Amino acid sequence: MRVLLLGGPGSGKGTQGERIAQRYRIPHISSGDLLRAHVEAGTPLGRAVQPYLASGNLVPDELILSMVRNELAEPAATDGYVLDGFPRTVEQARAAAGIDDDLHAVLFLDVPAPELVGRLAERADREDRADDQHRATVQHRLRVYDERTRPLLDHYRWRGLLVPIDASGSVEEIADRIAAALDERTSRPARR
Ligand code: AP5
Repeated sequence: MRVLLLGGPGSGKGTQGERIAQRYRIPHISSGDLLRAHVEAGTPLGRAVQPYLASGNLVPDELILSMVRNELAEPAATDGYVLDGFPRTVEQARAAAGIDDDLHAVLFLDVPAPELVGRLAERADREDRADDQHRATVQHRLRVYDERTRPLLDHYRWRGLLVPIDASGSVEEIADRIAAALDERTSRPARR
């Protein structure tokens, strides 16, 4: 099972990624979580990427690609993975051709923008994630998503991999929709 999660900020990639990982016993590899862990640990990579994360801008490709490739090379990822947040642009998808070619499905978590803003505002009340704290940064993340990530939908639709999921409603309802879509999808061979 090799699945990619696509969706705007706050669409539930992390929440549902964890559930998919548990259900299929595969690692959940989130580029955002990996980057935040580097920031937290104060590594050279963390120091380099911190300003990008805080401002809601994309981290340069050369910093992301090797980090994700290293994770995918871990033995735990041999039997599959759920990728969350990478590839995030058409350029990254092209640069990661080996990864991109092996996907079973690309789940597009579709949530209206006002609901995304509401979820991120709620998280800002209870957690201290830098890019949730200011309305302008949240709006900027939404714009970056529209301009840089949304074009990936056509990239994967054209390749027959895109599976749109209505990602409004309760976490459980969405998890059930995803499980049904993935069960149906994985009964077919991976597309090349
Ligand atoms: P990343 O961590 O990927 O952030 P994001 O895309 O902005 O997404 P979020 O983590 O905010 O939301 P999510 O979709 O995971 O939703 P979640 O489950 O958390 O990236 C952060 C930054 O890292 C980027 O801005 C960039 O700088 C950098 N970066 C990462 N990857 C990169 C790449 N490939 N290239 C370049 N730069 C990169 O849910 C959000 C909230 O909603 C939570 O509080 C959750 O509890 C709640 N929630 C979830 N589901 C529901 C529901 N059904 N109903 C109500 N609330 C819900």
